[in-house]
Amino acid sequence: MDTTKQKPVLQNTRNFVKKTLEDAEAGHDFWHILRVLKLSEKIAEKEGGDLFVIRLGALLHDIADAKFYNGDETIGPKIAREFLETQQVDEGTIEHIVKIIENISFKNSFEGQKFTSKELEIIQDADRLDAIGAIGIARAFVYGGHKNNPIYNPDLKVNLNMSKEEYKKGDTSTINHFYEKLLKLKDMMNTNTGRELAEKRHRFMEDFLKEFYEDWEV
Ligand code: ADP
Ligand code: NI
Repeated sequence: MDTTKQKPVLQNTRNFVKKTLEDAEAGHDFWHILRVLKLSEKIAEKEGGDLFVIRLGALLHDIADAKFYNGDETIGPKIAREFLETQQVDEGTIEHIVKIIENISFKNSFEGQKFTSKELEIIQDADRLDAIGAIGIARAFVYGGHKNNPIYNPDLKVNLNMSKEEYKKGDTSTINHFYEKLLKLKDMMNTNTGRELAEKRHRFMEDFLKEFYEDWEV
């Protein structure tokens, strides 16, 4: 698709995503999408990649998160495809975006990710960066609150060998979620730029946990 036609498609996609996520849970709302979009663009400045695919993929990556659809992982890709078809986006690009949405999620890392591309690597790093650091901490507690999980429970053991199904259930304390996911993300970054950006956010989470335990013990 030539660049003059890309601009209105991106604008329409933004509007569509904003409207669709109007009532989304705060950790997966339109602000999360905008942060992932900006981070993806920032990473792409250094790493390259097709910006049209990166922007569309970032905008549509959480259009229907399986967590909020009884674990159904097919709805997001389906909604994205149907929308992109109304925008006369070519089939190759649609197929690529659908694959990105199908493979981006952390839970797919449990069974080995089936597809990758530079564009997916970039958006996945951006999505993971938004799950760590100060914002990541805020999002984790929003999600834990949404599930009515305890903030922390010293009797609850961290489960480092969770199955995908156990992870999806999200039956844990939010502090345990740091060990079960958030602290692992730094070493799962795909790109050098992502890895660099993850360092500071990772350290902030370690500092947070240290303070948390100090305050817990009094
Ligand atoms: P992805 O978006 O890669 O699929 P998730 O959906 O697992 O990843 O997580 C999205 C957000 O929800 C992240 O910020 C993550 O930390 C948070 N989250 C997921 N599961 C839990 C949980 N059990 N407790 C607290 N936060 C969680
Ligand atoms: Ni996301």
